[in-house]
Amino acid sequence: MTTTQNTLNTINLNSGLKLQTGTYYVEVWGCQMNVYDGGRIRDLMNASGFTEVKSPKDANIVVLVTCAVRAKAEDKVFNQIASWRHTGYISEKTVIALGGCVGSELAEKILELDKSINIIFGPRTIHRLPNMISQFVSSGDPVVDVAADGIDKFDYLPESGPVGPSAFVTIMEGCSNKCTYCIVPYTRGEEQSRPVQDIIDECVNHIANGVIEIHLLGQNVNSYHGIHNDGTVCNFSTLLYEIAAIPGVKRIRFTTSNPMDFTDDIIEAVAKLDVISDSIHVPIQAGSDRILEAMHRRYTAKEYIKLVKKLRKARPTVHISSDFIVGFPGETEEDFNETMKVVNEVKFDQSFSFVYSIRPGTPAAALDDPVPKEVKMKRLYELQQRLEEHALEYTQAFVGTVQDCIVEGTSRKDETELKSRASSGRIVVFKGSEDLIGKMVKVKITSVIAHTLKGELLND
Ligand code: SAH
Ligand code: SF4
Ligand code: F3S
Repeated sequence: MTTTQNTLNTINLNSGLKLQTGTYYVEVWGCQMNVYDGGRIRDLMNASGFTEVKSPKDANIVVLVTCAVRAKAEDKVFNQIASWRHTGYISEKTVIALGGCVGSELAEKILELDKSINIIFGPRTIHRLPNMISQFVSSGDPVVDVAADGIDKFDYLPESGPVGPSAFVTIMEGCSNKCTYCIVPYTRGEEQSRPVQDIIDECVNHIANGVIEIHLLGQNVNSYHGIHNDGTVCNFSTLLYEIAAIPGVKRIRFTTSNPMDFTDDIIEAVAKLDVISDSIHVPIQAGSDRILEAMHRRYTAKEYIKLVKKLRKARPTVHISSDFIVGFPGETEEDFNETMKVVNEVKFDQSFSFVYSIRPGTPAAALDDPVPKEVKMKRLYELQQRLEEHALEYTQAFVGTVQDCIVEGTSRKDETELKSRASSGRIVVFKGSEDLIGKMVKVKITSVIAHTLKGELLND
């Protein structure tokens, strides 16, 4: 399945610049899918003979994997490049490759914003990065390759090396839901699922490298519909059973779930498969049906609450978290109160909330938006206060419980302590020897500091 060889063969390095022995620096913004892409870019660059460095100032090539979900996220990359240039971290000789969601959103327009950018790639063209570098070095002209169709990128990426005890595995690309506020369907393209065997092979390779937790990624994992080798379609619940059956898989996480596709068979898998983590992220976005309809979310607040009830029945220890958008165009005080009503009823665990950000080209960008910014900020503050109260209640309720924790390394604050992650996603620190790193252990929680749990290792 690995076809790196092809990629390497097509690199033309007759330019005098010995880029195959060059250095590169990668910086990633955005969601876990971008973190995954950043990791795969590292795999590819290393396999193509490049050496990673920890600072842009030591790099021949700076690779930026960006996010476009809100205007602020998009601005970040341009501010970052300007600041590196100002501090001398990048010079006119540094090759700058800008990719990820801003890459596919703006494509050639980026060259109008910043002429010093040399290569523009998209989420689906990361596998062609070495070729683009070679093309730029040969010609000196900017290279833009942001095609948003096909998922052949996975066929051209080399196998990953060790990544620690937990690995991201992307199971699908893109999104076809077209929520009216969201730019993702335009930056990552239409939804396409990877074949089952590719996903299983990637998981098996990770397990062989010491991984015990697989974190499945997609913009809408519940609507996964890949194919088996025999051509039959596999839905998300079947995929969960197949991954759970791989020897060595001790925990499975998945992000993100869309409420409308969280079908009963997936809930049943959550009930049956102990390896599925206790933390399930199901973004509701808003609690007002009028706003949900305007967002094109295709579920009502009532349906969402019903889903939460079913999940809690299936797995009493489940922790539900969500994303919220406050101040969608035309959101009234009454609409916002509906959101607060759902928040109070559901009591979410650690969630993300944002003020609506206009994304050019999306349907919502054309809507009238009479609500003043200060009103939106006040609503966001009120929502975040309440979300934090609830999340703290959950954190405190862990005291006295025993948690299965995956040990990630030593604690940054105190090297005599180990840092691990419980099924709920909480960080748990405890005293223990370094040979536990990479293992799953039982820890009795004794106290909390903010959202971090402290505990004692149990010998079972
Ligand atoms: N596919 C996921 C969301 C991916 S984007 C889902 O549907 O749940 C991550 C989050 O960014 C979204 O859940 C939403 O809360 C937020 N978001 C997306 N577009 C936004 C916008 N235009 N303004 C503010 N927040 C936005
Ligand atoms: Fe965006 Fe909606 Fe797709 Fe999520 S489901 S990525 S919010 S369009
Ligand atoms: Fe951002 Fe693209 Fe992810 S816009 S949230 S990096 S899919």
